[in-house]
Amino acid sequence: MINLKFACPVCQSALTQFDKSLKCENNHSFDLAKKGYANLLLSHQMSSKQPGDNKAMIKARTQFLEKGYYKPLIKRITQILIEQKVNHLLDAGCGEGYYTQYLKQSINYIDGLDISKEGILQGCRRDKSINWCIGSVSALPYLEESFDAVLSVFCRTEEEQFKKVLKQNGLILFVGPGVNHLPNLRSKLYDEVLPYQTDKQEDYFKDSFEMIHEEKLDIHFTVIQEDILPLLSMTPHYWKCTKENKEKLLEMNELKETGNFSIRLFRKL
Ligand SMILES: C[S@@+](CC[C@H](N)C(=O)[O-])C[C@H]1O[C@@H](n2cnc3c(N)ncnc32)[C@H](O)[C@@H]1O
Ligand SMILES: [Zn+2]
Repeated sequence: MINLKFACPVCQSALTQFDKSLKCENNHSFDLAKKGYANLLLSHQMSSKQPGDNKAMIKARTQFLEKGYYKPLIKRITQILIEQKVNHLLDAGCGEGYYTQYLKQSINYIDGLDISKEGILQGCRRDKSINWCIGSVSALPYLEESFDAVLSVFCRTEEEQFKKVLKQNGLILFVGPGVNHLPNLRSKLYDEVLPYQTDKQEDYFKDSFEMIHEEKLDIHFTVIQEDILPLLSMTPHYWKCTKENKEKLLEMNELKETGNFSIRLFRKL
């Protein structure tokens, strides 16, 4: 692992690599898995035995993203981070690492963190030169002022934690659904398609950050039949819709769709 910024999840002091483990000055020790990740999630930080996205969800996400449907989004994210001269990035809630791996081509140092072990395992398969870590955004296991930027794509956010690990003037690049995200999928599943609830996003990062840029991105794409279920599995609608409507959606030969993304850049005050 390179350019290590890990902090001990027990006492917050710096972790140093000794062969196959990470140790702090107070002798707390954490194994570095052979597969290439650190597990810095303490048992009391786990809401269940296997927190975060499960194996099937991770597999679905990889299948869908690898087809390139969201490529314009990762291209735009990369462009913004390059413009901002980001040298060390934390992908907080990196999932199975599609975005993290793509960004590695343009950014010197990247850490990918997710609470899902299956997600981090898939990340390790993608690229071993990234510092992968099982951990929670609610207790980021990194030293203070470690990163130039935190990327948060469709994941829960924690203002205080992001602030802690960001350098002075550090940035948060936040990507979430816009009000018109996936309208056609939703019209198959529900009688009425309401605008996506995005009002909560307005409250993110309002205490210690200023928003310096905001934009919307629309991506139009046609999902082939075998990728409709993976797309659905990436959304909360998988759990919310009725079995009948799900079946109707999955019977379609293809789904013409629009991804409507909200992209916001915040600077630490
Ligand atoms: C919708 S997925 C987005 C993943 C990735 N950013 C992407 O867009 O492909 C949300 C991710 O958040 C992770 N997650 C949920 N709670 C978390 C937490 N407390 N800390 C870190 N990751 C968490 C899940 O395991 C899942 O991988
Ligand atoms: Zn310690």
